[in-house]
Amino acid sequence: MLANILKVAGLVSNNSTENSVAVLDVGFGCGDQTVALAELILAPSRSQFRYVGVTLNETQRQAAQQRLDATLLAADKRDVENTSIKLFQADAAKPESWDKAITTAVDNLSDKAFSERWLLGLDCLYHFSPSRKPIFKHASQKIDANVMAFDLILGDNPSLWQTLAVRLLGFVLLCPWQTFLTEAQYRDQLVECGYDRGDIEIRDISDHVFAGLAGFLQRQDAALKPYGISLTGYSAVGRVYDWFDRTRVLKGVIVVGRKKSKSQ
Ligand SMILES: C[S@@+](CC[C@H](N)C(=O)[O-])C[C@H]1O[C@@H](n2cnc3c(N)ncnc32)[C@H](O)[C@@H]1O
Repeated sequence: MLANILKVAGLVSNNSTENSVAVLDVGFGCGDQTVALAELILAPSRSQFRYVGVTLNETQRQAAQQRLDATLLAADKRDVENTSIKLFQADAAKPESWDKAITTAVDNLSDKAFSERWLLGLDCLYHFSPSRKPIFKHASQKIDANVMAFDLILGDNPSLWQTLAVRLLGFVLLCPWQTFLTEAQYRDQLVECGYDRGDIEIRDISDHVFAGLAGFLQRQDAALKPYGISLTGYSAVGRVYDWFDRTRVLKGVIVVGRKKSKSQ
């Protein structure tokens, strides 16, 4: 998923990047994407990289930190971490709540030494409360960053009950009530936050997301059943993915939004 987002954003070709890139990565989970990005940066072709990660969950932050430390240690690159990669626990949806250390680290991403500055939100922005707007505005206005994300949006022409079912699902997942937007509403929101309407790409990749996830969860459940282990919660999630796949009431999309170039 990360590799595909980076490709759509035009940041990698042949698994390497030559640009100097600054990334604000929100909701980085247990750090799979942090480590993958660090490995990409450590590639010999890299010129310059700075990464600030912000996640809500302290346990996940610690897990990510440990994995990152191990990766950099194995590559004999611990110095890179001190200067270029910082992980924080905070609410990325509320930039006004950040303490000085986070604010300074994020501000430093705006350094014009980086030819590209990006906000990355991989499978997390639909959780953001009150909405995605504060982090989009912060990225656009404070660090002049483009946006790349994997996100969920409402399908085309959902029935009233489908929309209601999706909103209820969001409620159960502790997402804001109005978190799922249509593609048009999503574009409007990006434009309102400072992104160029003519330079927004929303690519539907549902075919490669929901059925695979549903199948994976079913296979895990079946494999563990003989041992008396039940993944009831995950099976329910699998059925929801299966429903998404059949109805496309929600679509899984890669979003890339760019700032207007200063000369425009
Ligand atoms: C579905 S997980 C995805 C994790 C990771 N990006 C990945 O793809 O493996 C969503 C993540 O978003 C984080 N998250 C949710 N709301 C957040 C917020 N307001 N600020 C920062 N992180 C948040 C959660 O802690 C969780 O790690």
